[in-house]
Amino acid sequence: MAKKSVTDLNVKGKKVLVRVDFNVPMKDGAITNDNRIVQALPTLKHLLAEGAKVIAFSHLGKVKTEEDRLTKTLKPVAVRLGELLDQDVKFVPETRGEALENAIAAMNDGEILVFENTRFESGETKNDPELGKYWASLGDLFVNDAFGTAHRAHASNKGIAAHLETAAGFLMEKEINFIGGVVDAPERPLVAILGGAKVSDKIGVIENLIEKADKILIGGGMMFTFLKALDQNIGKSLLEADKVDLAKSLIEKAEAKGVKLLLPIDVVASKEFSNDSEFRTVAVADIAADEMGLDIGAESVKLFAKELEGAKTVVWNGPMGVFEMPNFAKGTIGICESIAGLKNAITIIGGGDSAAAAMDLGFADQFTHISTGGGASLEYLEGKVLPGVESISEK
Ligand code: 3PG
Repeated sequence: MAKKSVTDLNVKGKKVLVRVDFNVPMKDGAITNDNRIVQALPTLKHLLAEGAKVIAFSHLGKVKTEEDRLTKTLKPVAVRLGELLDQDVKFVPETRGEALENAIAAMNDGEILVFENTRFESGETKNDPELGKYWASLGDLFVNDAFGTAHRAHASNKGIAAHLETAAGFLMEKEINFIGGVVDAPERPLVAILGGAKVSDKIGVIENLIEKADKILIGGGMMFTFLKALDQNIGKSLLEADKVDLAKSLIEKAEAKGVKLLLPIDVVASKEFSNDSEFRTVAVADIAADEMGLDIGAESVKLFAKELEGAKTVVWNGPMGVFEMPNFAKGTIGICESIAGLKNAITIIGGGDSAAAAMDLGFADQFTHISTGGGASLEYLEGKVLPGVESISEK
């Protein structure tokens, strides 16, 4: 059954609680990337235009110490939201109590308020039932647009949803359609490109995608554990020795399922993990004993690009190399370009580092969907049920 949408709600004059994921990166109190705020705008604008009283809230970072309570305030986020909406956003530096309740009671239709970091409440991450019930009591309806937090069962998503009619916001719907679409009913052929440093972070995703994808292309640091499993030469590249057997079994599983699992044929290698050290592109077989591979090579980019031709759905998670260092970014850029150049394919980036890489490299508009979820999109691709999605009311 489909989930209830924000457009299914009659919100005029209602107090609508909106869980957004405003967990944005910050440096010295300033937001360094406002993408998650930008992605929440369609839902917020819709509710405001429909005459709702919008009460928005989010967590920001992990709150463990007293100092965290000073540095992890949502105030700068509320300020940025006001700029983006071009509308007054009232910030209430509380997570409960009279000041918050009075501020809500004083709201007019079409106004928006943001309250303080939900994790300032110790009950938030424990999904304390009293806290979820209290927050639910502040509104008439609940809209969950925080896909990035959907893998958490917290008071501000699952807890509130237990007490109010709950609908998905536009961002949540988009994420369910695209990331959920990959695992539920992808348009075929489905090609998955998986990278990142460690196999151990991606086991669940690889296992699940072996069941769903037609091809799996593997790059990033984790390729070396797979190459090792095939008795290939890896020099002193990153290796998870305790995962070699697992990599072997994943390769066998893919073979048995008829899924084409491809590994790079060349790498950019260096003697040091540094952008300043010398580097060269070599075939995998020629990696020297004192070299480590830090990116996939140009021939591998070509090979992967060829395998992408004709794909109807492409999902990419994890960079192909150490893209933060310019000398080892070409593989990730090449893959970005190849996916972006595909015609007639649904192209999806499953969040995290690869989403950051695509946006930093200027490819933000060239994919069908770039997920705002890190852990959430990974768990979704693993085939897990996300509590934040599950707790949205059915249509
Ligand atoms: C994220 O950034 O992945 C989400 O906002 C969830 O944050 P968390 O990992 O601190 O729960």
